[in-house]
Amino acid sequence: MDLGPKLKRACDDALHKAKMAWKAGDSETAAANFEAASKAMFKFAEHAQSRSMEYARKRKAIEYRDFARRLREVGAEPQAKSNLPKPPSNHVDENRSHETAGGEPESNISEAVSALVHTSTITWDDIGGLEETKRDIKYTLGLSLAKPPADVKITTFRNMLFYGPPGTGKTLLAAATSNSLKVTTEGQALFFNVKVSGVLSKYFGESSKIISEIYGAARDNSPSVVFLDEFESLTSNRDSEQTGAERRILSTILAELDGLAEKGRSDIFVLTIAATNRPWEIDAAVMSRFEKQILIPLPDEETRHAILDIHLHKKGYQLDFDLAELIDDTEGYSGREIERLAKQATSQMISELNADLPDLIDSGLAATRAYQVKVRPLTLADFERAKTYIRPSTSPAEMQRYIDWSVEDD
Ligand SMILES: Nc1ncnc2c1ncn2[C@@H]1O[C@H](COP(=O)(O)OP(=O)(O)OP(=O)(O)O)[C@@H](O)[C@H]1O
Ligand SMILES: [Mg+2]
Repeated sequence: MDLGPKLKRACDDALHKAKMAWKAGDSETAAANFEAASKAMFKFAEHAQSRSMEYARKRKAIEYRDFARRLREVGAEPQAKSNLPKPPSNHVDENRSHETAGGEPESNISEAVSALVHTSTITWDDIGGLEETKRDIKYTLGLSLAKPPADVKITTFRNMLFYGPPGTGKTLLAAATSNSLKVTTEGQALFFNVKVSGVLSKYFGESSKIISEIYGAARDNSPSVVFLDEFESLTSNRDSEQTGAERRILSTILAELDGLAEKGRSDIFVLTIAATNRPWEIDAAVMSRFEKQILIPLPDEETRHAILDIHLHKKGYQLDFDLAELIDDTEGYSGREIERLAKQATSQMISELNADLPDLIDSGLAATRAYQVKVRPLTLADFERAKTYIRPSTSPAEMQRYIDWSVEDD
């Protein structure tokens, strides 16, 4: 029996429901349905008549999955919804030819790679708490970069995995790591920031070429950091049998993690940092290549203190109450949620005190420029109000899952 049409219908149904929920502002239901649509689309891809059709469908499936993820990220935040990109279209472009392996002009690949190269301005001081993790990373860098003793072979690390709930500082840590490799004269070390799902959805079938290209460029610019974000998308294949393209990605990434290309070249140092919210989905062979697997948990009291300090005091805001109260109040919040909470509270306060600004604009540029923006110390009530908008999204049970996983994995 041909399951194709049935799967296509399942996908269309889920998409329809997803979009209705999205329009109604119910991001939870929308996310669940985009995920269902993604699963159905992955299965539907297996019934494709050609490889290009299969890849087109998989790209679509990845797009739906990404959108569901983004919806969940902003779920608790009403004002963020207006910033959401439009949901992906239903249209599967099965005629696009460039997904066939080898068919793509080289220039597109190097363009894709250069779009991923960043320099970073994040420093260790921009990251609150996580002191042990920071030391761990610095030690690893130090050991790899320092001169080894002449007659002793020191084993150094080259692959690190950060895992943990969303918004806990994984990307910040990778950026600071890259920044701390600053090459004195030429400015900053390069930071290859690869959002894996983005590469997969855009270049499915060619992702392995892109990965090789990235590592090639990273070696040319040694020392450098390759940051593979949303790493589980690269090597998980729960949704389907492995296809040729997926097998190629897997073997490419394994070769790069093993550092095959730089064997015997002690002058080249490329550190791979992978980050994921779903470590349990990562292929076991890949997982075993990460000598360092570091859980980045929800912030404890000390870390929440440091994060609040960064997002309030260091920005010049005053409080008319003891910060300790806020530290208690933000238990269960991720770093990102604490930052949003601070933003919500400060912008509420400012808009309240400066409600006349729109009228000033009507009175002309000179009057507006002469106006002094008013601020006042923040109160606990400001934060109480902000808390009605910004809720923590990682439940204690979800946090526990990371902890359990790290124990099992040991
Ligand atoms: N320890 C921290 N100190 C200061 N700010 C933090 C910290 N953790 C998170 N934040 C704030 O939250 C934002 C998101 O952090 P980051 O991007 O590093 O999270 P992440 O762990 O990579 O999340 P995801 O898993 O969703 O990619 C940062 O831009 C920063 O403003
Ligand atoms: Mg991140």
